[in-house]
Amino acid sequence: MSYKPSQKSHTIIANFKSNHTRTSTKEFVKYIDNFIQNEKIKNDIIIFPSASALDEYDILSDNLSIGTQNAYCEFKGSYTGESTKIHLDEFNIKTILIGHSERRHILKETQELMVRKFNFYKDAGFKIIYCVGEPLEVKQDKNNKNTNKIIQEYICEQLNQIDISYENLLIAYEPVWAIGTGISASLEDIKQIHKWLKTLTNKKILYGGSVKEDNIKNILECANVDGALIGTASWIKEDFKNIISISDMIKK
Ligand code: PGA
Repeated sequence: MSYKPSQKSHTIIANFKSNHTRTSTKEFVKYIDNFIQNEKIKNDIIIFPSASALDEYDILSDNLSIGTQNAYCEFKGSYTGESTKIHLDEFNIKTILIGHSERRHILKETQELMVRKFNFYKDAGFKIIYCVGEPLEVKQDKNNKNTNKIIQEYICEQLNQIDISYENLLIAYEPVWAIGTGISASLEDIKQIHKWLKTLTNKKILYGGSVKEDNIKNILECANVDGALIGTASWIKEDFKNIISISDMIKK
């Protein structure tokens, strides 16, 4: 199930966070897989279920895969409550999300831990979706006239010691204040940050933060946006299906 993302297609991700059960995830994956097959969808689609719903799903589409929202950076061992690599290997999972703002800010994961996770799963050849993005106080730093520069410095710290030339890396720019709020970043902000990120790396750069059916078209049409990481609007299968459908009509 290890496929390489094509630079010519968008990557569209559903992040279930702590939603959906094992049963409903199974139904969801089957529904999306059928849709991809029937409509001959070309974009790369990745679904990140909760840990208890990780499984080796019977997927027909080459461009649909399952990733893990998190895993500890060890093969196995005494890490109460954590999944480790053996748990991913059991289901042939080769894609991981690292650095999501909820793990950084709610679960207090440090940059040092992100780097260890990144290096461990890089050495294991995983596809890594590495998330960066500034919180509201950085965006609204009134003492500073050049907010863009401050945001860039903040993101650079999140990229500190991360090998951004890793071949199986995708970066997701997700401003913290846009996640789960219903307020996505402006197209102008997205364009500026993505353009700057592309000066650092030639990897795919996805945007995340309140992406939904009615804004995905405009977001994907922005230069240097290679896909979207979607939380809330991906949890209802019909909505996610519509999002995929819209995304597939946009030329890259
Ligand atoms: P959202 O979440 O789409 O609900 O804003 C995005 C994310 O957390 O990845």
